[in-house]
Amino acid sequence: MLNFALHMPTKIIFGKGEVLKSGEIVCEYGKKALIVTGRSSTKKTGVLDKVIASLKQAGVDSVVFNRIEPNPRAETVDEAGHIARENHCDVIVGLGGGSAMDAAKAIATVAVSGLPIHEYIRGNFTGKWRELLPIQKALPIVTIPTLAATGSEADGGAVITNLKTKEKSGINGPALSPKAAILDPELTYTVPANYTADGAVDMFTHLYEGYFTGDEHANVQDEITEGLMRNAVRFAKLAINKPNDYEARAHLLWTSTLALIGIANAGREGSYPVHAMEHTISAHYDISHGRGLAILAPAYFRLVIQTDRPHRLARLGRRVFDIAIEDDMQAADATIVAVVNWFKEIGAYDTLKNVGVKKEDLKMMADETIRVGGLGKNSLAGTHPLTSDEIFGICNAVYE
Ligand code: NZQ
Ligand code: ZN
Repeated sequence: MLNFALHMPTKIIFGKGEVLKSGEIVCEYGKKALIVTGRSSTKKTGVLDKVIASLKQAGVDSVVFNRIEPNPRAETVDEAGHIARENHCDVIVGLGGGSAMDAAKAIATVAVSGLPIHEYIRGNFTGKWRELLPIQKALPIVTIPTLAATGSEADGGAVITNLKTKEKSGINGPALSPKAAILDPELTYTVPANYTADGAVDMFTHLYEGYFTGDEHANVQDEITEGLMRNAVRFAKLAINKPNDYEARAHLLWTSTLALIGIANAGREGSYPVHAMEHTISAHYDISHGRGLAILAPAYFRLVIQTDRPHRLARLGRRVFDIAIEDDMQAADATIVAVVNWFKEIGAYDTLKNVGVKKEDLKMMADETIRVGGLGKNSLAGTHPLTSDEIFGICNAVYE
């Protein structure tokens, strides 16, 4: 196990009805909130009004910015950051899926500095890889997830898209870790089956990527990861069959948070190559993040089998899908089948062609993944950084 430092500063309030405590939580951090949310779901479900009322009751004024798109855009974030400044907001509430929560983090940054968010983006949207500038200053952030998927509720990162340049990239830093996250599983009852499935694939991917690519001598983390993967697999099926099943929704939400809060990958430093590939696809085609991950997984797994780590895929199959095959290569093959079957069962199985990707764009997107995603060390199963040709091969294999 590698040395590590782990800091998890987000206070987590979890449970049924806890959204009604929004006011008493948010008032610890500010007196005027910008509530950052998506275009329709939080209004439709009534949770936006509940949060506004709870804030008011606790003496917190609020302004609502309800124009965050899925795959949030840099220019929307900049506009909302200026609204926060003009209204003298001193706390940002991210209410919604990963897009609203990520946007809230970016807006909290712009609200303090007044600079456009691209100043903080990896690569600066200039086409050149650069390390992330850790963001040290932002308004305090409180997250209220309504969808179990990204883990943005309690991590220190966010992903922003520049649609003009078709780049999607991350910001990071200690100031972006939410002060508090209110996880009320009932808020996720209304998530439709497709987003429930895509969210489960997202958390599953956050887990397997570190598991394949990082240091192999971190058994505690491996077993935590396997347990979380089992929960994603099991409870996604239950939540899709019965959307108001509290236990299923609660387990999915808690799994999504734990998958990316830092514990699973501590001491092994795995990387996120499938995410880098998917971010290029959703930057160009604006598709659901989790769906893009589901499309890429089978071909990425095939490549993992060709590296020095088929035994990791075999172990995943044995521990998560109960595969009882001793030979590593055969077990790894059976794992791919099991994962694909799970995707099919929950309705997440798809192809690039089916989500509208043009075949002639695959090579360009492979190059873009290297350029914008900057796939560095250990990006393929501990052996080597993924090359553009390998990425092209993966995309080609899952084209149709
Ligand atoms: O836009 P609204 O009207 O809110 O509707 C959303 C959206 O259409 C809807 N939705 C959310 N909660 C709902 C609901 N519909 C009914 N009932 C509810 N309770 O679901 C749709 C998708 O929402 P979105 O927030 O876009 O999905 P997700 O949570 O998957 O977030 C995706 C974004 O997060 C980034 C992705 O790249 C993508 O931009 N990620 C952020 C990460 C992080 N901060 O650490 C890590 C992830 O790997 C990921 O990259
Ligand atoms: Zn993800």
